[in-house]
Amino acid sequence: MNVTIAGHTRYYRSVAFDARKNEVVLIDQRLLPHRFKLLRTRDYRQTAAAIRDMAVRGAPAIAATAAYGLAQAARAFRGTSLSRFEAHMARAFDTLRSARPTAVDPLNALTEVMRASDAGHTVAERQALALAAAEEFAQKSVEDCRAIGRHGLPLIQDGMRILTHCNAGWLACVDIGTATAPLYAAHAAGIRFHVYCSETRPRCQGASLTAWELAHQGISHQVIADNAAGYLMQQGAIDLVIVGSDRVIARTGEVTNKIGTYTKAVLANRHRIPFYVAVPLSTLDWELESARQITIEQRDEAEVLGAWGIEWDPVRARPKRGARHVYVRVANPASTALNPAFDVTPPELVTGIITPRGIFRPTELWQRRSELGPGHE
Ligand code: MRU
Repeated sequence: MNVTIAGHTRYYRSVAFDARKNEVVLIDQRLLPHRFKLLRTRDYRQTAAAIRDMAVRGAPAIAATAAYGLAQAARAFRGTSLSRFEAHMARAFDTLRSARPTAVDPLNALTEVMRASDAGHTVAERQALALAAAEEFAQKSVEDCRAIGRHGLPLIQDGMRILTHCNAGWLACVDIGTATAPLYAAHAAGIRFHVYCSETRPRCQGASLTAWELAHQGISHQVIADNAAGYLMQQGAIDLVIVGSDRVIARTGEVTNKIGTYTKAVLANRHRIPFYVAVPLSTLDWELESARQITIEQRDEAEVLGAWGIEWDPVRARPKRGARHVYVRVANPASTALNPAFDVTPPELVTGIITPRGIFRPTELWQRRSELGPGHE
């Protein structure tokens, strides 16, 4: 999407690859919205660290990053021995896959790159095939998001107030986003609507990233505290909820997404507000029997006990001169915290899954596996 910094507008993808330098190029999302800075990773270990430390985050974005990281590993290999190349690729695959455990997209992306590379007869062929497959994954991710926008557009009507949680926007994907794709399509079509960005403690992806994205696109929005959603629904101030997902179990229709999604789904159900989940095909998990098998990432307690932000001048309503990006401790110094990063929403609370092939009930996904599953893309 276009980003305007100091009056200059440029098109960026959240994840790209510099083939000449063999570097993955990322927007460092830890610094947004206060600073826009690109981060270049020089080898696959640095790429895995960028995923682990959440310089890049969001299921499709970490998938594209992992795909490029595996291609980067392939291209860094020196020698002609296929068995040594395979051992090197297996190490890179495991390092990139284990950087974050909950989303299925990175596993799907890495599997695609590995499978494509394996078809080569020489190391050089496998290196070229790995990069081509990573580029294809990233491009397909963009096309999926565009198609989600087309299918989701009819859900957005003039005057609607829409709640979203976390960031399932272009920063979380390679471009466009999943939950935001229908919003961007509706904005382009001249439909007027207002978005509530749920703050999304502890890392505040809604307040920092979704709000930044929507502001850049000129979309009317406000940040709300996570706890405010129930009140607003009770007041009749929310007409629709759209979120993304890190893993949808295709057999059951269970939706894994950022912690707090389940709470919003329960509230939406209580208030009979449609609750939609937007996903590219890479987010569908065709293997697991149930969400009980998913590893829910447990993150550092420091995220809950404090918060990151920029030093702020409240009088001038702008950053202090020479402001630093700082961590402040909020919680009682003697207390510890628990920090599960994701939760699971059962299918009966989900009105529909917006996919690049249309909108389906969660329980319909498995019946449609011949059209939505791997090998039919
Ligand atoms: O921990 P994060 O920021 O990676 O979590 C991101 C989310 O939960 C998103 O909603 C999800 O990845 C979908 S992104 C299209």
